[in-house]
Amino acid sequence: MELKITCIPGDGIGPEIVGEARKVLDKVAKCYGHRIQYTNILMGGASIDVHGIPLTEEAVETAKAADAVLMGSIGGDTTTSPWYKLPPNQRPEAGLLAIRKALNLFANLRPAILYEELAKACPLREEISAHGFDMLIMRELTGGLYFGERKTIEENGIRKATDTLVYDENEIRRIAIKGFDIAKKRRKKVTSVDKANVLDSSRLWRSVVEEVAKDYPEVTLEHMLVDNCAMQLVKDPAQFDVILTENMFGDILSDEASMVTGSIGMLASASLNDTKFGLYEPSHGSAPDIAGKNIANPIATVLSAAMMLRFTFDLDKEADAVEAAVKQVLKEGYRTSDIMSEGCKKVSCTQMGDLLAERIS
Ligand code: NAD
Ligand code: IPM
Ligand code: MN
Repeated sequence: MELKITCIPGDGIGPEIVGEARKVLDKVAKCYGHRIQYTNILMGGASIDVHGIPLTEEAVETAKAADAVLMGSIGGDTTTSPWYKLPPNQRPEAGLLAIRKALNLFANLRPAILYEELAKACPLREEISAHGFDMLIMRELTGGLYFGERKTIEENGIRKATDTLVYDENEIRRIAIKGFDIAKKRRKKVTSVDKANVLDSSRLWRSVVEEVAKDYPEVTLEHMLVDNCAMQLVKDPAQFDVILTENMFGDILSDEASMVTGSIGMLASASLNDTKFGLYEPSHGSAPDIAGKNIANPIATVLSAAMMLRFTFDLDKEADAVEAAVKQVLKEGYRTSDIMSEGCKKVSCTQMGDLLAERIS
């Protein structure tokens, strides 16, 4: 099969982790008889440095022409990088938001799984981590606070900033349908997370999710307030199957969920629309503090590439092989520094990529 993949290496550790994911994909292609045609585009700071803006129209067109996009991460140190002296709509993150919108990637799937082998890297007490967990955070990605109107004004010498949180029922319905469809194939439980005790947008969210649930009698629906959910994620993560939530809550909760898996370097993601196209990226950022040191964990990106094989290309066997390679390498005791624990063998980013590629046959 011919796979057309556009890569966005991005900034910071982005090029390092995308390089390792490509190594793994190339090995998959070799072993299973596929041909991969890569194109590269610039986004974020890398695009600002060359084009003066974080995403060009040509870059979007190149991404659209591919079957899928494999992304690293964008952005710099938000306190020291000169990119953050630019107006907000010209900063690196504006490129990411623009590509999500341009490709209509409204469904962001972030699986948080505690691998048995990483129980020691999980910061939770042993009696909690012993149960393991496997949850999927389904985050709405093209609405809410991220895309509402915002402004900063000065009124009578007082600076005042506004961000707007808007959802219409269609935006809620389409992500809820995706959430229930996926839950049907998993453990059949949806936890819809909102702040319905305060926000109108959450009250609408809750009622639309209730309406959608009627078409899925086999799936159990529960509602949970977001503050409680933040607490439950560390108290008893095994209770969750699919967490369905809006953009901002999903952003925060997925970073929290990632840490209970051992490290944010383990959390993959897929951003999907209603076609087979997808943008696949780790949930973490460009980690400027460790960029260029060859110590980043490439597993989140490698697992995102596995999600690409599964969702966009329907290559389940190949995706299984990548996931099995991750488990195997962890079982053999190899660890990047973020997931290192006593008695394990510390490896660099590139060594981890080599090991993963070698385990695919
Ligand atoms: P971050 O996720 O980049 O880093 C948070 C911490 O996690 C750091 O200590 C970092 O070293 C560590 N970390 C992250 N990924 C790692 C990996 N693969 N292996 C080992 N350690 C890892 O978050 P931040 O520091 O808040 O943000 C840095 C920049 O990244 C900002 O400009 C932000 O806007 C951007 N960002 C981009 C994305 C994206 O491209 N999707 C996501 C989140 C943040
Ligand atoms: C993520 C990131 C982005 C987000 C930023 C960089 C705009 O944190 O993908 O989780 O908030 O969506
Ligand atoms: Mn985030």
